[in-house]
Amino acid sequence: MTLLCLLQGFCSLASYGEDLEVLHWWTSDGERAAALYLQDTLAEQGITWVDAAIPGGGGEGAMAVLKSRVLQGAAPAAAQIIGPDIQNWAALGFLGHFNIVALAHDWPNILHPTVNQLLQYQGQYVAVPFGIHRINGLWVNRALLAETGLAVPQHWDEFFTLAEKFRAMGVIALVHGNEPWQNATLFETLVLSVGGPSLYRAVFEQLDETAILSDSFAQALSLLSQLKGLMDPEINGRTWPQATRLLADGQAGMQIMGDWVGGELTAWQASDRVLCASVPETAEEHLYSIDTMVMFKNLAVSSYQGQLNFAETMTRTDVQLNYNRLKGSVPVRLDIEPEALSDCAQISYRLFKANQAQGTLAPSLAHSMVATAEVEDVFVKVIHEFFQTPNRPVLQVQQELVRNLKSIRK
Ligand code: BGC
Repeated sequence: MTLLCLLQGFCSLASYGEDLEVLHWWTSDGERAAALYLQDTLAEQGITWVDAAIPGGGGEGAMAVLKSRVLQGAAPAAAQIIGPDIQNWAALGFLGHFNIVALAHDWPNILHPTVNQLLQYQGQYVAVPFGIHRINGLWVNRALLAETGLAVPQHWDEFFTLAEKFRAMGVIALVHGNEPWQNATLFETLVLSVGGPSLYRAVFEQLDETAILSDSFAQALSLLSQLKGLMDPEINGRTWPQATRLLADGQAGMQIMGDWVGGELTAWQASDRVLCASVPETAEEHLYSIDTMVMFKNLAVSSYQGQLNFAETMTRTDVQLNYNRLKGSVPVRLDIEPEALSDCAQISYRLFKANQAQGTLAPSLAHSMVATAEVEDVFVKVIHEFFQTPNRPVLQVQQELVRNLKSIRK
């Protein structure tokens, strides 16, 4: 394919033996399996995915590395940048455009509108969509649950009853890792549970003081400290896959985490050992994080062709199905037959569509879907500190949040 061909319109994006360096934070077994599938798929077209994986769930480490590389003028060809941050990078002029692929493949009509909107800056497509994760997942060890004779908890009283049973059986009731992003991920599901999408958006999107100082928000904080009481003393430094391993091996009863846990279980062939459910009181809600990658510009024309090819490949139906099955997320396309998805993914896919239609989707704070980096930082830090000293009066935490948010908005 030549540049002339590109300028004349869309043409079949043939392979050109390109190397594309891809910076991301997919380092767990399930994440790696999904990335490997993409590497193989791109390799079939002569594109070599040169892997630049930076460990750290939630992407904090990857973002730091990316920023310093860009400042040194050594941007990778593609990088995992998610959420409204895409627009900030585009506004600074760093990102390549690929309307040529997006329009030729009808992205405005085949993608979920929320996804479609996230990808664009000033009418130009500047990001490639991968999959949609649901964050408000409750994962329960099947054999241990069966031993208790109890049902999957729908409400918090049932959850605490089950947790007590697990404790009495000598297993960890709720397995978790004490990392800032894991704590924030857990906490945001509690805000959604207690106050529904309206409180959720009022707090994290509108930064509404009344909502932050409300009784419902206080209740979410109290719930967080109650949940900490169900955890074992070994939470420090535990990564989410280590937590999931304890769950799959029957040393823990429950984990609250995004559905990348499902990808991990698939990689371990352990999906039958753990069932997926929703955080209590959120069975009809969808707290989402959308995985996307951007392409950096100012590369050689030949790399641009590789980038376009990558973008085109990612939205193919077969690639969407195969990749998301491994990753635990669901396709970004609207035209997927639900039967093609796992039971758990079918629920996420249906709920994403339904909540999108009703305007009740909850964009993840911890996974950068809703706020600026500064705002995210304030919430993540304050929640993390509170998690270390959960007996602190929750009103103090609420006031601290309001104060800190004010200071960055000055
Ligand atoms: C990403 C997922 C990833 C998870 C844990 C999230 O921010 O969107 O793709 O699996 O972090 O690493």
